[in-house]
Amino acid sequence: MSARMIDGKSLATRLRSELTARVARFREETGVQPHLAAVLVGEDPASAVYVKNKQLDCTKAGILSTLHRFPTTLTTAELLDHVQKLNADPTVHGILVQLPLPKQIDELRILDAVLPVKDVDCFHPENVGLMVQGRPRFLPCTPAGCQELLKDAGVKTEGAHAVVLGRSDIVGKPMASLLIQKGGVADATVTICHSRTKNIAEITRQADILVAAIGKPNFVTADMVKPGVVVIDVGINRVGDRLVGDVDFDAVKEIASAITPVPGGVGPMTRALLLENTLRAAELQTARAKA
Ligand SMILES: NC(=O)c1ccc[n+]([C@@H]2O[C@H](COP(=O)([O-])OP(=O)(O)OC[C@H]3O[C@@H](n4cnc5c(N)ncnc54)[C@H](OP(=O)(O)O)[C@@H]3O)[C@@H](O)[C@H]2O)c1
Repeated sequence: MSARMIDGKSLATRLRSELTARVARFREETGVQPHLAAVLVGEDPASAVYVKNKQLDCTKAGILSTLHRFPTTLTTAELLDHVQKLNADPTVHGILVQLPLPKQIDELRILDAVLPVKDVDCFHPENVGLMVQGRPRFLPCTPAGCQELLKDAGVKTEGAHAVVLGRSDIVGKPMASLLIQKGGVADATVTICHSRTKNIAEITRQADILVAAIGKPNFVTADMVKPGVVVIDVGINRVGDRLVGDVDFDAVKEIASAITPVPGGVGPMTRALLLENTLRAAELQTARAKA
């Protein structure tokens, strides 16, 4: 048996086209164009490509995007100063600080400095807290993208055992938080695994839904999953000139009932959710300005 493919590329295209219409309506009703400010520090080619793609997505959706580019030698104080300027600029609705930042920069201080209402990546502790409590201001892009994939694929999460591989602040922890919420694409029983977890394969074999986000190419092998599992592969790893996920796709697809490919699975959804959050940020700030 070969698993059903969960096609993130086509779902993201659909979501982006709906969002483009909503952006147009918002602009017509308010006269305000949603604006995402992307902050890029240093010369990392992968980061430059990510930012360029996000900017392209914005343009296609009718969202203004500006690039704020700085040399690798930038200090924490200098970057803080720039973030404060973007916070104070009423025409900027969303601020995206592309990670990783150069080593000398205190990443947490920078992310904490972003005004929560402009924090479209949902990294600020206030937004993380709201999300954990089930009253989100923004949803974290990658985990929310995974939820949209599960929803679109008609996967029943209620009562399912979801195993999340990885406990990062960007993917693993918020993914687990979303899946344990009440109602919606949630109500799962969640186990989180990380590099100190013992007998990972024993745990992953119990998963009805397996979300892999560890950054290790082809880590999840066929003997680590049970028949019928739904697999969401968040991993993006470069192996030679190919991009592969954290799951051994060719082998695991023979056992799973549904699986996301890499590329074309979670990645496009993350980008779509960033646009969603930027529109939401513009809506929130425009409503506040009127109140
Ligand atoms: N598709 C997308 O849109 C998207 C978005 C974000 C990230 N990603 C990709 O997703 C992957 C994970 O990203 P991330 O930012 O979450 O990475 P990260 O910050 O490096 O976190 C990796 C997590 O995996 C755990 N881990 C590492 N090796 C392990 C092992 N052998 N067994 C069990 N757990 C292990 C780590 O455990 P410890 O905490 O114990 O160290 C950590 O919690 C990467 O490939 C990244 O490129 C994709």
